[in-house]
Amino acid sequence: MVYAHITGWGMAVPEKILTNDDLSKMVDTNDEWIRSRTGIRERRIASDEESSATLATKAAIRALNLANLKPTELDLIIVSSSSPEHIFPSTASLVQDNIGAKKAGAFDLSAACTGFIYALDMGAQAIRSGSVKNVLVVGTETLSRFIDWTDRNTCSLFGDGAGAFVLQADERPGGVLSSVLHSDGSGGDLLTLPAGGSKYPASAATVRDGLHFIQMDGKGVFRFATRVMARATKEAMEKAGLEIEDLDLIVPHQANMRIIEAAARGLKMPMEKFMVNLDRYGNTSTASIPIATVEAFESGRLKEGDTVVFVGFGAGLTWGALATEWSGPRPVEKRVNHGAYLFWARIRSVILRLMRIAEGVLWGRYGRGK
Ligand code: UT7
Repeated sequence: MVYAHITGWGMAVPEKILTNDDLSKMVDTNDEWIRSRTGIRERRIASDEESSATLATKAAIRALNLANLKPTELDLIIVSSSSPEHIFPSTASLVQDNIGAKKAGAFDLSAACTGFIYALDMGAQAIRSGSVKNVLVVGTETLSRFIDWTDRNTCSLFGDGAGAFVLQADERPGGVLSSVLHSDGSGGDLLTLPAGGSKYPASAATVRDGLHFIQMDGKGVFRFATRVMARATKEAMEKAGLEIEDLDLIVPHQANMRIIEAAARGLKMPMEKFMVNLDRYGNTSTASIPIATVEAFESGRLKEGDTVVFVGFGAGLTWGALATEWSGPRPVEKRVNHGAYLFWARIRSVILRLMRIAEGVLWGRYGRGK
């Protein structure tokens, strides 16, 4: 029997901080309203040089470092994002090239703020099936690029960042224990980024009508979220054959403090069992759970052997929960020099590009399939 253990984790957030007071100079809002209605004090905003792929790459390297795993040992990379670098190529393929994971398959997954749970589950399933051994799962967002900075209903909520986990096969029991994934597309209109896809391709009209910005029925999402968070957590624990009382820590999607408090009431659990850091990052969508997990570990709230549930909700509508027995980093005999791997990844990428150019020239001169 093979188990999927979380052996590495890392996060990356932009340096630029946007506080509630900063926002109050941009739109009709104030620190008191945002803090009391959401719990958010500030969020991080990507610079012009940063993107979903650059943040994902940084988080991935940190996770690989902790797992002490070479990028070349990765079999699969799954990137979850609602603000991918492009429609295609996938952000996962860009990360694969950036870190030099030359034998890994790579794909993006779209399940909005629940995406990291979906991606973790897919990675764990791939390991349990025996088809792969080492998987990198990344949640990354630069949703600040899709925000109407004149809309106070949405601009105070979201922030940028990325978080990554390394999953590894092990015969030792533990790691990912169970998961539940759900969707209800009838609620798709509650939270949407309408244009830029095949239904409303970019045009002067879509830009004029603001259809490339996030649109949200905040109250509708709030009601849905408070319904599903406790329920999904219970389902995942039941599926793992555990009682709610066995839980050491819940890492919820970091959208709104009041939603997390409602989940705590629904589960009859004290708030101390919930990891919360949305005050400093806002809602980083699919990145929020891995970022909160990294900080839970770094602050000593997550120890080897702990039973942890990750639970999230978001556009789609989607929601889900995943129960895990935290394994902690594996003991290290010899440190992998990730700096060297990254250096060679850059060289390799340039060589591959040059070879493609040379191939094109030769093909034009002598080839054309003859
Ligand atoms: O990952 C999933 C992403 N989405 C979510 O998690 C959103 C879930 N929903 C929420 O978190 C909350 O519904 C919000 C924070 C979005 C709104 O809180 P609320 O307590 O549900 O406020 P509300 O919808 O009752 O809005 C009350 C008023 C409205 O003004 P009017 O129309 O009553 O005059 C809003 O325009 O508050 C206004 N408002 C604001 N006022 C100051 C909305 N945003 C702001 C703001 N500053 N930033």
